[in-house]
Parts: sequence; C-alpha cells; structure tokens
Amino acid sequence: MTLERLNEIPADAILGLMTAFQADPSSQKTDLTVGVYRDDQGRTPVMRAVAASEQRLLDNQVTKSYLPPLGVDGFRDGVRKMVFGPADDAHASRTAVIQTPGGCGALRVAAELYLRTGTGETVWLSEPTWPNHLGLLGAAGLALETYPYYDAVSHELQADEMLDTLSRLPPRSLIVLQASLHNPTGADPDDATWDEVIGILEERSIVPLFDIAYQGLGDGLDEDVAVIRRAVERLPEALIAFSCSKNFGLYRERTGALLAVGRDPSQRKVLESQAANVARGIYSMGPAHGPLIVAGILDDPTLEELWKEELAEMGNRIRRLRGVFADELEAERPDLDASWLASQRGMFSLLGISEQQVDRLREEQHIYTWCATAESISPDSTIPISKRSPGQWPH
Ligand SMILES: Cc1ncc(COP(=O)(O)O)c(C=O)c1O
Repeated sequence: MTLERLNEIPADAILGLMTAFQADPSSQKTDLTVGVYRDDQGRTPVMRAVAASEQRLLDNQVTKSYLPPLGVDGFRDGVRKMVFGPADDAHASRTAVIQTPGGCGALRVAAELYLRTGTGETVWLSEPTWPNHLGLLGAAGLALETYPYYDAVSHELQADEMLDTLSRLPPRSLIVLQASLHNPTGADPDDATWDEVIGILEERSIVPLFDIAYQGLGDGLDEDVAVIRRAVERLPEALIAFSCSKNFGLYRERTGALLAVGRDPSQRKVLESQAANVARGIYSMGPAHGPLIVAGILDDPTLEELWKEELAEMGNRIRRLRGVFADELEAERPDLDASWLASQRGMFSLLGISEQQVDRLREEQHIYTWCATAESISPDSTIPISKRSPGQWPH
C-alpha cells in the first residue's frame, strides 16, 4: 500500500481552540482566535457595497466560462490603481498583475516566480511573522530565514537590529515585508526606517515581496501602502501580494492578486507569461466571483464611495477598540503603560503574556486566544527555521 505510508498531522492548535469556543455555553465568551474583522454584534458582515455589486453580478451574468489566464481586467487594473495611486501612470506599463486565490495564492505564485529566476532559494521573514508565511513559502520550496523585527517584551520594533541584518543579506535575496498593519505584532516601521530599508534593498539588489492584506484598515487607503509607493519609485523590481479578504470582507471568496513590477514594459510581458504559467501548473486560474465583485465596486463611483465609507468605519472601529483596551488596562492596572496598544495598528498585537495566563483567560473569563509570543511562533530557536519539518511549523 502507498497511501497508508502517510501519517496523520496533529490538529491545528487554533482549530482546536475554535472548536472549544463553539462548545463553550457561556454567554460572555469572546473569540480572539482567528484574524477576521467583527462588528459590535460579533459578526463578520458582508459589506453593503459588496452585496450590491454581487447582486448586480448575479442579475447580469451570462456565462461561467473560463477567464483569460491573468484574470478579470477591471479587477487587475483596479487593484493596481489602489496600490500605486497617483503614480499608477508611471508604473502600470512595467507591472504584471495576475488574479490569485487570495493573498495566499499571490504569495505562493511570488515564491515560485522567484525560484524560477535561479538567483536564490531562501526567503527572509520578520521574526515574528504571520505563521502561514512559513507553511506557504516553505511548501513552495524556499528555505526560510528570519530577520529581527520586534521585541514582544518591550513592545518595540527592533529597527537597528533589522537594518543591520538586512545590510548583510546576500545580494538578490528575497525578503517579505508587510507593508502595514503587521501581523502578528501590530508594529510598523516609521518612514525614516522604511527609507533606510529601501536604501539597503536598492544597494544590494534585494527583491522585496510586499505583503499587503489590510489596505485601508490602518491610517487610510493611501497611507497604508505608502512604503510600496516609495519603494517602486526607487527600485527596478518588486513583488506585491495583495489580498481583498479583509478590506472587501471577501475572505472565503479567495480574492487577491500578485503584482510583479519589472524594469520596463518588455519585462512586464515576461512576468505575465511566467506568472500565468506558474498558476497554470498549480490551480490553472483563480476563481472569478470575488474579482468580479471588486471590479464592480471599483468601476462604479457610487459603490466605490459606499465601500470607502464602510472601510473607514471598520478602520475607525479597530482604532477605537485599541484605545479602549489600552485605557481599560491602565485603569485596572495603573502600574502598566499600555499606550503601545493604542499606537499600534490593525487587528493584532502581541500581549507578551504567558501560556498559563492564556489558559486562565479561557478558563476564568471565557476569552479564547493563543500564546503568540515571539518564542511560541518560532518555538524551538535551537532548530534553524529552514531545517524545520512541516510538522514543526505553527499554523
Ligand atoms: C499577513 C497576511 N498576509 C496575507 C494574508 C492573506 O490572506 P488571504 O489568502 O485570505 O487573502 C493574510 C490573512 O490573514 C495576512 O494576515
């Protein structure tokens, strides 16, 4: 027998927590296990602009036939304009855009594109990073290494240590940079640090893979991608993995895109053909439903305005809740300075609490969360990250 040679992989700890949450009869329970936006009734709503665009799509669609290999043109153009903003005219002709199944699909295609260049086999990730980066990029065949990013005890970005490591990376390395609302720390570099990072990338011909999954939920649609705009002004090449899961609330519709910025328009054509070929070899083409909904919003000024309003409301709520959390913590424990919680951005922060404290929160307060200190995300620091087997990757 062949298939019976496979061993069962232990259940994902977070999925186990989600099951325990569902089984908890308490009316006071709080689910902090999974990174989705929730309104004040605890729902992850369908945005009104999304529902309207989807209805229009259902009323008017005449076919479910295949799409062209790169996807829906209105979606590809719309996403590129969201990322580049006023500089779109300057960079559109050198940028290949391919629709992908979510931001995860974009990360996978980006990894394979980089491997095809033959210039390296390693990707550099922030320590800590979104745990899925490890599984996704590792499964594509990249070795994983880390650069220092954040100290969960002092709640501070390790800017000097990060810059020092980056300045010693081999030329033409691939590095993942979360453009804003860093998952899981909530801490983003300031403008001056980003400028230094871009300077190092320029000097060492390092290829940035910008991961942008929360555009519009931080300081604004333009502000949240400012570093990408600055980088493409200065760098000849860049990869950008874009997700519509959070900012359009399209999670399960698997809607995203990879932008591959080349030196010039002839390079764009090469990148388009390579990206389409990578996708063809994995999943053939991404699903159409989500991209058609997004294109329907971005093509219609009234729907676009409605979507922007809803997105701003969501971003304001996240910021407000962060402030309330910090204030309440300080009111309860005047010896604590929790101001870092309010100044960070996005859905995540590392509280730096212990596993025992996480257990107590669940058992005594019905608050379900997980221990995501830097140590637990990269659990055994004695094993170099690149040598870990899939079973050792947290999800
Ligand atoms: C940092 C980061 N990158 C990418 C993604 C992509 O998600 P999706 O594949 O659902 O679009 C996420 C989603 O949680 C994320 O947090």
